[in-house]
Amino acid sequence: MSQFYGLVALITGASSGIGAEVAKEFARKGALLVLLARRTERLNAIAMEIDPSGEKVLAIPCDVSVDDEVKKAASLALIKFGRIDIVMKNAGWSLKGELAELNVHDYRKLFATNVFGVLNTIYATLDELKKTQGRLAVISSVKSYLSLSGDSPYSMSKFALRALCESLSQELKPDGVSVIHICPGYVATEIRQIDNQGVWRSDWQDNIPSSLLISSSQAAKEIVQAVSQRKKEIAIPNYSKIIIFLKRHLPGLVAWVILRFKIRVSYKM
Ligand SMILES: NC(=O)c1ccc[n+]([C@@H]2O[C@H](COP(=O)([O-])OP(=O)(O)OC[C@H]3O[C@@H](n4cnc5c(N)ncnc54)[C@H](OP(=O)(O)O)[C@@H]3O)[C@@H](O)[C@H]2O)c1
Repeated sequence: MSQFYGLVALITGASSGIGAEVAKEFARKGALLVLLARRTERLNAIAMEIDPSGEKVLAIPCDVSVDDEVKKAASLALIKFGRIDIVMKNAGWSLKGELAELNVHDYRKLFATNVFGVLNTIYATLDELKKTQGRLAVISSVKSYLSLSGDSPYSMSKFALRALCESLSQELKPDGVSVIHICPGYVATEIRQIDNQGVWRSDWQDNIPSSLLISSSQAAKEIVQAVSQRKKEIAIPNYSKIIIFLKRHLPGLVAWVILRFKIRVSYKM
């Protein structure tokens, strides 16, 4: 029998990239799916690809940054499937720039999705996860350990998620809810084509060297496996594991390398 047969997985940010591939991977393993994102057409296309009959998948337009939208989505999920076993917080984006190029509003805008959108998702689903002794998987980043010049908004938001996961894994243990903190490195998705206004710029090239990129389907396989094993934290691919190890054990060396080789994120605004 498939690993997740009959379990209900709710995934935010399922209209593209990692979220869409994770949804397909869960579906292959027998899960029923609740897919959330703002772009309805793209979300419906993913849902159709997974199950054209619509029996095993429910697509719900939802902006996680708007208080109560995830709550409404969770209610619809319960009406259709009656339970929620897995919550995959994946919705997120990246706003870049040095502090002097940005303002407080920019940081707030990013936090509205990357941090408060996560809290909205958790508050909307936690009671159900407690009932099923389920799993809360948080797509964070290797940037939850490493913050480079030009990347403070995004890294701040991911550092916050790491802190949240660390506390929640202790707080939710008595309820049998597992918290899985997921730290990808560079994954080939549209994230680096989103400008600081949140607009998708399809003509922007991904400037990350292909040797550092993994595909979203490869990432999804490892993420779903970590969820199935209720792992506390995973880092993908291997260089992310090395970065986290060095940040934990040799932070001075990492700081020296960053300064010596002037490592910073490159970005368009
Ligand atoms: N790609 C990487 O290199 C990488 C590395 C580390 C971590 N991550 C993390 O992986 C997650 C997924 O990103 P991705 O790389 O797959 O990028 P992506 O292809 O741009 O996907 C982002 C997803 O988030 C959704 N989203 C954004 N804002 C939202 C909002 N306010 N409400 C609901 N949904 C929202 C988007 O859907 P709509 O626009 O339709 O709403 C889209 O489905 C993010 O949390 C990102 O930080 C990515």
